[in-house]
Amino acid sequence: MNADPRPLTVTDLLTMKVAGRRIVVLTCYDAVFARLLEQAGVDVLLVGDSLNQVLAGHETTLSTTLDQMIYHGAAVRRGSHRALVFVDLPFLTYQISIPEAIRNAGRVLQETGAHGVKLEGGSHMAETVAALVDRGIPVIGHLGLTPQSVHALGGYRVQGREEKGADRMLQDAKALEAAGACAIVLELIPASLAARISKSLTIPTIGIGAGPGCDGQVLVLHDMLGLNEQFAPKFLKHYAKLGESVREAVRSFAAEVRDGKYPGKEHSFE
Ligand code: KIV
Repeated sequence: MNADPRPLTVTDLLTMKVAGRRIVVLTCYDAVFARLLEQAGVDVLLVGDSLNQVLAGHETTLSTTLDQMIYHGAAVRRGSHRALVFVDLPFLTYQISIPEAIRNAGRVLQETGAHGVKLEGGSHMAETVAALVDRGIPVIGHLGLTPQSVHALGGYRVQGREEKGADRMLQDAKALEAAGACAIVLELIPASLAARISKSLTIPTIGIGAGPGCDGQVLVLHDMLGLNEQFAPKFLKHYAKLGESVREAVRSFAAEVRDGKYPGKEHSFE
């Protein structure tokens, strides 16, 4: 648990990298979990467009809408006080033109109270990142396995294994840093490449399936809590078995309702 109750600011991310303090990030989609994660000392609550898969049951993140992200982003912000809140910009809300990216990212900040946005892509997004940052919108970049490009990448597979791809990713990371990104998520890349990128940048990297050499780590909350039981990639560690706990609790409720044991007198009004 982090003892400092002061609300974090985006510049604290840099301070943490300089101080060698690892940044703790989890995805979060609602106010209940926002409160719990913050009480447990999480630094950054990422309202990921993974909610389209985790909460809504879609195969990809591609059909996520800006309104959905704003709804969930606002809920997370209402449930948190100290943690930074970043909201994913969904597919096609920032790739078409820079003015559209500014309008959509601006809506996210205005309507959710979040501290910044995350978007996917490397050098080709650098101009957009710079335009957002210039207008006061903090941006986290996202390289490696970028889920909004899942079809172009041929599936959810490790990226940057070959030297050429690895060198390109390092250049992409440097381009995002030069554009003013405040951090970069590195997803599903070899640990050695993630460590190399992390050492080459002054801004922090946040890894998921990218080994221990990153400046912080992120996991999808429902995966690490064991709620999304069928998803078990190599990089994931289950820190709880909440799927089992939920089934057990609901079985007890169902049995007590069927046996007439619940509600008892103590749960009833005279
Ligand atoms: O959408 C998401 O949850 C993410 C994390 C996996 C980094 O982008």
